[in-house]
Amino acid sequence: MSADELKGFLATAVALAKEVGPAFKDGFWRKGQFANADDFAVEGKKGNAADCVTAVDCHIERVLFSRLRSIYPHHKFVGEETTAECGDAAITDDPTWIVDPVDGTNNFVHHHHFTGVSIGLAIDKQPVVGVVYLPILDELYTGIRGQGSFLNGQRLPLVGPLTTPTSLAQCMMVSEHGSSHDETMHSRMRSLTRLLLAKEHGGAGLESLRFAGAATSDMSLIAKGVAEVHWEIGLHAWDIAAASVIVTESGGAVFDGSGWWGLPEGEREPQPLNIWNRKIVSVRYIPDLPGQPGSGRELQIQLAKELLSVVEDIPCTPDGLH
Ligand code: IPD
Repeated sequence: MSADELKGFLATAVALAKEVGPAFKDGFWRKGQFANADDFAVEGKKGNAADCVTAVDCHIERVLFSRLRSIYPHHKFVGEETTAECGDAAITDDPTWIVDPVDGTNNFVHHHHFTGVSIGLAIDKQPVVGVVYLPILDELYTGIRGQGSFLNGQRLPLVGPLTTPTSLAQCMMVSEHGSSHDETMHSRMRSLTRLLLAKEHGGAGLESLRFAGAATSDMSLIAKGVAEVHWEIGLHAWDIAAASVIVTESGGAVFDGSGWWGLPEGEREPQPLNIWNRKIVSVRYIPDLPGQPGSGRELQIQLAKELLSVVEDIPCTPDGLH
């Protein structure tokens, strides 16, 4: 795929994100076409109130897919709501649009501003184009593999000059407890506790922890350079496909998020992210500064290792294998 073809895909995704912006805002403020409570109606998927869907999610996904299908009839499509309904995601090497119409639906329902539209394009199963649009904050994040990432046209990362974190003790982490409030919550909470506990109490001594409530928002904080590390297990390709391009193109790094806690000691390296495997670690851009103990890339790997060595793994069925 040429650089110009990728630019064309990005332009389409940006135009579509902007097109659905007004419906997103109407739903968020319960006005216009979503002024009636009945039109808005929130449902918990499979009876789980934390994993919810609204009429706005379904409306936006329908609009995005019908536009994309008419422009790219030979491409494939994976969307949170369609896939949740049909119970499967078709994963092939073909160009595949991966869409979350409302990431952070729970935030959206509560009028919490960290919520947005995510449109990613994967080719050969690798994300190459990403658009994350947070309409309430008026933030449009874009990225193309090999061509950088931007927030409202300004190159990422935004925050500077960035410091060099050499351990989790200097890191703000963003994470989520996830929407499946099942018995795996014990493992998630044990992992977060272990991360936060001071070193003298046997923990990793993480400096601070934040929950934005939406994977795309978490990852936009990494791409901006606001937060240093991000970890979540249990999310889906539509939560991270677009944002992973935006993070890596900001100079950040993304890895597989399977935890190593409790596994036999040994030399381990963080593995590349597979967006379909539902486990992620992201680390923000770290500059190469004179006198620091390693290159920016080496320090990103070191932080990912430090994190993975204290978090537990949680088995998840990969997307596409339901
Ligand atoms: C969810 C959000 C949440 C994350 C869940 C996702 P949704 O997406 O990103 O932060 O913890 O894993 O499923 O369902 O609101 O689009």
